[in-house]
Amino acid sequence: MDDEEIRAVARVLRSGLLTSKSGSGTNVMQFEDAFAKYVNTKYAVAVNSGTAALHASLLAAGVGRNDEVIVPSFTFVATAEAVVLTGGTPVFADIDPVTYCLNPDELETAITDRTKAIVPVHLYGLTADMDAIMEVADDHGLTVIEDAAQAHGAEYKGRRAGSLGHMACFSFYGSKNMVTGEGGILTTNNRELADTARSIRNHGESKAYQSDILGHNYRMPEMEAAIGNVQLGKLPSFLEARSRHASTLSEAFKTKPELQLPVQPDGYKHGWYVYTIRLKGSNAAKRDKVVRQIREKRVDCQVYYPKPIHLQPYYKVYSSDQLANTETAARQVFSLPVHPSVNASNLDRVVSAVEAALE
Ligand SMILES: Cc1ncc(COP(=O)(O)O)c(C=O)c1O
Repeated sequence: MDDEEIRAVARVLRSGLLTSKSGSGTNVMQFEDAFAKYVNTKYAVAVNSGTAALHASLLAAGVGRNDEVIVPSFTFVATAEAVVLTGGTPVFADIDPVTYCLNPDELETAITDRTKAIVPVHLYGLTADMDAIMEVADDHGLTVIEDAAQAHGAEYKGRRAGSLGHMACFSFYGSKNMVTGEGGILTTNNRELADTARSIRNHGESKAYQSDILGHNYRMPEMEAAIGNVQLGKLPSFLEARSRHASTLSEAFKTKPELQLPVQPDGYKHGWYVYTIRLKGSNAAKRDKVVRQIREKRVDCQVYYPKPIHLQPYYKVYSSDQLANTETAARQVFSLPVHPSVNASNLDRVVSAVEAALE
């Protein structure tokens, strides 16, 4: 954030138009156009969180009671939470142990005659293997909604995250690749889905005070859209810094056989939301000790995610299956910061903190 965002918010505050009753204020519409252009989709619908984007997308896709939606368990809880909010049932499928994203080979066995949609998550900023996922989805007539909350600017075979499924959802929460405080957006090339999502964003209205479907208040305030417009312009430089920081860490750790470093497969461009390492063969206690030691050196080391969703108290009821790759990853991974504000001396400190913790 710098003066540009402050000026953009001040302009909104001075205008007095902080939001609009349809959710389509001037700044919101400008942000939607710019974001759709960036992602290369026809439509974008701005909302007030990534969770709202997921919920509105699932509802627009017609997901409701008795429907199943396949999701990874190794993700932030919102991915599954949004399914439950529709009245549908999340069905958890395992991940690929190298990319940590949904494994397309796990889909066929998870599909039933109740399956309506798949929500692959582009975890840590790396896109899931979308061609393989879309092929299975097309065979079964399923809707694919990318959870791109962590993947602004990531690419897959020359196409941007957000343009790879039937719909996609982004978050602009304060830690993301670009931020608005809280906020989210959904993208699609399908006019009907975009129109339905826009209506859900505003109480299911088709015109003022006429609700045709059940909706919510998922409107993005004008201040946030104003910040988003500035941040989107800065996104390429943010991504460049993240990628540079990730390369520095990979270079420093490449001779450590005990670490599995993050990958960027051919044809993929990582968004580097976080830099996630696996402590090979570790258990949770050993990994947690390493994380504690790194944090003692004032490095913001985090575990995303220590408890997969299917093992969390509220969500246990949705799953009895073991997800071997998910559960192993949850015991072994830890993440290091590569955000744009990290500087060279911070990275030196990160590297020495990790090296000391491994000794
Ligand atoms: C993978 C994933 N999905 C969904 C969300 C939800 O986004 P928000 O926090 O904006 O509601 C997040 C954000 O934290 C996320 O990381």
